[in-house]
Amino acid sequence: MKMNDYIEIVDKKLDEFMPIEYPEDIFKAMKYTVTLPGKRLRPVMCLESCRVFGGNYEDAIPTACAIEMLHAQTLIHDDLPCMDNDDFRRGKPTNHKVFGEANAVLAGDALLTFAPQIIVKNSKNLGSEKLIKILEEYFQAGGAYGVIAGQVVDIESEKGNVQGDKGETLEYIHTHKTADLFKLALRTGAIIANATDEQINEITEFGQILGVAFQIADDILDEISTFEEMGKTLGKDKNAGKLTYTAMYGLDESKNKLSCLLDNCYDIIRKFDIKSEVFVEIISGIKKRVGIK
Ligand code: IPE
Ligand code: IPE
Ligand code: MG
Ligand code: MG
Ligand code: MG
Repeated sequence: MKMNDYIEIVDKKLDEFMPIEYPEDIFKAMKYTVTLPGKRLRPVMCLESCRVFGGNYEDAIPTACAIEMLHAQTLIHDDLPCMDNDDFRRGKPTNHKVFGEANAVLAGDALLTFAPQIIVKNSKNLGSEKLIKILEEYFQAGGAYGVIAGQVVDIESEKGNVQGDKGETLEYIHTHKTADLFKLALRTGAIIANATDEQINEITEFGQILGVAFQIADDILDEISTFEEMGKTLGKDKNAGKLTYTAMYGLDESKNKLSCLLDNCYDIIRKFDIKSEVFVEIISGIKKRVGIK
């Protein structure tokens, strides 16, 4: 399977999984951000991880779509005035700009619970043991042990409000706010494919490094990219006083670190003999966006 084939499937299934029901306002708000054009990296990683470990990627479609819904939830709340206060996402006005703050908060809450419901409703064929494992992964990554932990420390970090070692805090933020959903996607795909514990550990290592690298790239792109390219207002991290890679290490050093981490990602897939053109495409896509060789 190619990246674009997966994206096509995910887009079609996301639309199917999200009919507009009563009360329409909430379902419309939920569907709005989910179906705006994103890169779909997390669902693609879930499907590809399943394929790579010998599973049928079709078994992972509900989980992959649920992870994209969870991701959209994090974006909706991340953009709220009380968080990053952003007006544009995926090239369009943010959820609260279109539906109002109350509905944007509720749409995020609703997605957080709607997504695992999609898994449960549509993955009965996996059996209850696997289903519980997948849900455990979802709750771990989506809650206070995962992305929320990262977001809380990210917000606390604004205006230099950091206790303890800054480098470690930065690693913590990037691990939880970003790498945790990457690992969720890869791990659940692997679980669905009946991967061994060893293989799950290997793909987790890959997801951790790729996830942190992805967030470093996002920090860099906030300084050097354009609205047209990214679909969001850039240059805001600095003004907000956020603890980002570029704030801590500067642009050049951040690019060096990113380049090392991406090389590391290649090494891991080579070392563990993970044969995936899609993973290679994701890594090279990051390099291309940031403009590193
Ligand atoms: C945005 O994620 C949030 C970050 C972790 C930086 P993506 O860059 O994957 O956003 P979409 O899904 O393509 O819109
Ligand atoms: C995003 O970090 C992490 C999330 C959980 C959404 P950012 O705040 O840097 O993401 P963007 O730049 O708004 O996409
Ligand atoms: Mg943020
Ligand atoms: Mg943000
Ligand atoms: Mg950002």
